[in-house]
Amino acid sequence: MRFERKDLLDLRSLSAEEINLILNTAASFREVLERPIKKVPTLRGKTIANLFFEPSTRTRLSFELSAKRLNADIVNFSSSTSSVLKGESLLDTARNIVAMKVDALVVRHSSPGVSHFLAQKLPVSIINAGDGAHEHPTQGLLDLYSIRERKGNIANLNVAIIGDIAHSRVARSDIWGLNKMGARVRVCGPPTLIPKDIEKLGVELTYSIEEALLDCDVVIMLRIQRERQKVSLVPSLQEYRDFFSLNREKLKLAKPDVLIMHPGPVNRGVEIPAKIADSRQSIILNQVTNGIAVRMAVLYLLLVHSSR
Ligand code: CP
Repeated sequence: MRFERKDLLDLRSLSAEEINLILNTAASFREVLERPIKKVPTLRGKTIANLFFEPSTRTRLSFELSAKRLNADIVNFSSSTSSVLKGESLLDTARNIVAMKVDALVVRHSSPGVSHFLAQKLPVSIINAGDGAHEHPTQGLLDLYSIRERKGNIANLNVAIIGDIAHSRVARSDIWGLNKMGARVRVCGPPTLIPKDIEKLGVELTYSIEEALLDCDVVIMLRIQRERQKVSLVPSLQEYRDFFSLNREKLKLAKPDVLIMHPGPVNRGVEIPAKIADSRQSIILNQVTNGIAVRMAVLYLLLVHSSR
């Protein structure tokens, strides 16, 4: 099977076959990361630009390392030190970077749809590194990869996504990806942090964390995204913690071998206590490591494998 796409914009439009191709390709790159010399010449001569209009630790560094592991050149653009501050538009900024003969743009922006817009306007590959509360496809893919790595497969697993679903692009990408791979997805959070009609995405909704955790194989915890809330949508952090934080007692409701995941950044002591975030069941840092292999796979499939 070939990956016949110019861009990676979301998981909504990917088929299960395309997702499997990315995960299988990532598995071969994951092995490269264990070698003493963690480099292959796959993308020698290609140039990638990271365009980040929002803060990032994991995604930006992960794309940078992925490109370097594949021997591509990579440049970093940050809006806070750019001519955007002098009034240059998003499209003009991107066109100028493309004029420097780059092959792909990795784009993070606070507005949903920015990557789709740039993909229509520009001839180079666009990779969505998070657009507002819409999608974060490479995070969704690395979550799928991490679950498959530990559980063997994804079909028929019970997966709970708990926290601020309304503002989470990770939740949306995870929901699309997990559903396509045959998992059963439950979402849980305070009513003010659950989008209207979320069940139309094919998930079960509960406002009880105990119900969400019952017989769960995987739990994905999310932070409250205060920076995206115009008004505070929870009465207090203490109250949020009382109702929606994980703790050892609640975790007993899940399966004994439950995996605990979090896309980061983690707010320790709010959605998850430090002891659980650092426990044997937690694969939070494995997710980060796997993110490099998954992004290597995405760059390879878009820039070398695709016949487009
Ligand atoms: N998971 C994630 O997107 O983290 P960053 O915001 O640090 O990139």
